[in-house]
Amino acid sequence: MKIIMLGAPGAGKGTQAKQIADKYGIPHISTGDIFRANLKQGTELGKKAKEYMDQGLLVPDELTCDLVMDRIGQEDCKNGFVLDGFPRTIPQAEALDKALANINEKMDYAVDVDVPDENIVNRMSGRRACINCGATYHIVSIPTKVEGICDRCGEKVVLRDDDQPETVKKRLNVYHEQTQPLIDYYKKQDILRTVDGTQPMEQVFGAIVEILGA
Ligand code: AP5
Repeated sequence: MKIIMLGAPGAGKGTQAKQIADKYGIPHISTGDIFRANLKQGTELGKKAKEYMDQGLLVPDELTCDLVMDRIGQEDCKNGFVLDGFPRTIPQAEALDKALANINEKMDYAVDVDVPDENIVNRMSGRRACINCGATYHIVSIPTKVEGICDRCGEKVVLRDDDQPETVKKRLNVYHEQTQPLIDYYKKQDILRTVDGTQPMEQVFGAIVEILGA
């Protein structure tokens, strides 16, 4: 099964994508996580991506598309994958369709996790991410067992640089301008499914499983 997670920054795409990946035994591919891992390793790609991410802007398509096409061509993706944070622009969506058409494949579902802007800024200011393993928490809805420490690896959890309220507002503008048009794009392909992302996480996941099938 090949799935795209759509939604505003902080809508819960990553939270749901991880659970989908576990349930259906397919890889979770997050472009944001790939950029952050590169940044941590000090690669050129990581340094370039940071310039855009810190400003709340999108990393240019030419840096993003090849990276995803390489990843979905790997052996572990042959039974499907869940894309989280890609595509984010119409050219990225077209590049993905073209790459899949070349191997007689297409995406099965684009799941839009719908959350109004008002909820997003609050959610993001409460998110904490581990500096080592990238696990995410929320100070109210998913707190760490020990304050400030990752349950999974024991490293520090922090507010992401791009989760500062001003940067979140910028990311939301960029989302509305460049990413929201994908909703119509996938509606036309008849693979768009929308879930109410304001519900508790378990209910959002339940709604997604109903769409994808048990
Ligand atoms: P990326 O890391 O993809 O960020 P994003 O899309 O902005 O999404 P987030 O990770 O911020 O949020 P999410 O929707 O995954 O929410 P989460 O599950 O964590 O990208 C970062 C940057 O990289 C971009 O700004 C861009 O610069 C660059 N980039 C990445 N991909 C790119 C691409 N394709 N092209 C160009 N540039 C690209 O949840 C958020 C919080 O809410 C968490 O604390 C969570 O615990 C909580 N939460 C989740 N669900 C619920 C719920 N139902 N109720 C209450 N709280 C909830």
